[in-house]
Amino acid sequence: MFKYSIAIVDDELSNLDSLERILKSDGADVRRFQNPKDVVPALQSGNLDVVLTDLRMGAMSGLDLLDVIRNSYPSIEVILVTAYGTVEIAVGAMKKGAYDFITKPLQRMQVLRVVHKAVEKRKLVAENLSLREELKSQMQGKDRPIIGRSPALKGMMDLVEQAARSRANVLIGGESGTGKGLLAEYLHRNSQESSGMFVKINCTAIPENLLEAELFGYEPGAYTGAAKTKKGRVELAHGGTLFLDEIGIAPQALQTKLLRFLQEGEFERLGSNETRYVETRVISASNTDLRKAVAEGTFREDLFYRLNVIHINVPPLRERVEDIPLLARRFLETSAKKNGRSVPILHSETLDALVRYAWPGNVRELENVMERVVVLNRTGSVEVEDLPPEIAGGKKEHKTIVIPMGLTLRQIENLVMDRTLKSTRGDKRLAARLLGVHPCTIYRHLESGAKEEKPPTDAPSE
Ligand SMILES: Nc1ncnc2c1ncn2[C@@H]1O[C@H](COP(=O)(O)OP(=O)(O)OP(=O)(O)O)[C@@H](O)[C@H]1O
Ligand SMILES: [Mg+2]
Repeated sequence: MFKYSIAIVDDELSNLDSLERILKSDGADVRRFQNPKDVVPALQSGNLDVVLTDLRMGAMSGLDLLDVIRNSYPSIEVILVTAYGTVEIAVGAMKKGAYDFITKPLQRMQVLRVVHKAVEKRKLVAENLSLREELKSQMQGKDRPIIGRSPALKGMMDLVEQAARSRANVLIGGESGTGKGLLAEYLHRNSQESSGMFVKINCTAIPENLLEAELFGYEPGAYTGAAKTKKGRVELAHGGTLFLDEIGIAPQALQTKLLRFLQEGEFERLGSNETRYVETRVISASNTDLRKAVAEGTFREDLFYRLNVIHINVPPLRERVEDIPLLARRFLETSAKKNGRSVPILHSETLDALVRYAWPGNVRELENVMERVVVLNRTGSVEVEDLPPEIAGGKKEHKTIVIPMGLTLRQIENLVMDRTLKSTRGDKRLAARLLGVHPCTIYRHLESGAKEEKPPTDAPSE
């Protein structure tokens, strides 16, 4: 177990003694307080991880102390120690932000388990906070920044900054979902053409026979359905940037017209003889290897060289794993905002799983997974089991609970809660998360356990 610093607060010396013994044997840095009022100055030192306080004390109650900590030191976790019979109050305290509570008599294992969990949470929050800060510094008020800290991305960005300053045409290569579209926009926004328009045409999204009309425009009667004059996108891009997405699938006839446009800056609208001129910077993107297409004779070599003055290759996400935590955090934030949710905390194991996965769909796949996680999240933290099974890496266990016929719904609920608690070895928070209920439901179940109806037999499980 990692080292941690904990304050214990109790007006009874014997309790302080036993808590101190338990925690010191665990290697903790323990500070003891008999008067809760003395804790407040210690909080300011800034290096306490957890405060473990008795609920009922003379000078100041554990709840008052909880309020002070929650309001002024939100990153310190508070655990309450409570006698049996005051559990209702403790449940109320959980709603006010206590991490958990421990019931007397104190048991070493129970104390350490709850304390370890609280320390772990505190560590996670700190990690997530530093991720957030790093992300903030990368954003620096930018509109749609290209996020990442990997050497591969940094190397690419050096070239991107140079390319943005020049007027040369840029061809962006890279697998699907790596961020080619985002990069094209970024280049435009940071170029001399940024006051002009960024006009995009996606060659796969437009039927082949309409591509030419979309790109170069048409006059009435140019083809069936062409009722009035329409400007082509090249005209809209005058003084700005024309982004030819998925250029690899452009048909031969269009390739020829594009070549002329790139060489001379001239073109005619469909159905017109009038030659027009525009000046525009051309950025294109392809997720297929255009050199190969040239070699195979499906892509014009002369056009390739016109487009490919500067070549930027966006590396696949698996070759820049250092970017994954930052991107994951970014997508959690944007999805949370979009869906009106708060940003959940990423568990270390979750981050490990994200970094291990190969991401065949690259950044777009990560974005989709994070959105799904935000929408489905009910607990405020993302555990590895919340990820799709192929990413969680087989960690998603499915144990079974056998429910005998003849139980009432209430008995079934109790049985399911008992079994889940058993499989989490008494971890109430994890049980609540697995069952998709608030931890208070589990606490109430435990407290009312003795009074409730129990199933008649001990049904087999797992
Ligand atoms: N480095 C990055 N920082 C922030 N967001 C990114 C980054 N890279 C990609 N994205 C986001 O990931 C998603 C996919 O990116 P984009 O659409 O640009 O990929 P693409 O390479 O054009 O994919 P395709 O080949 O399928 O067209 C977008 O929502 C984009 O904003
Ligand atoms: Mg794209």
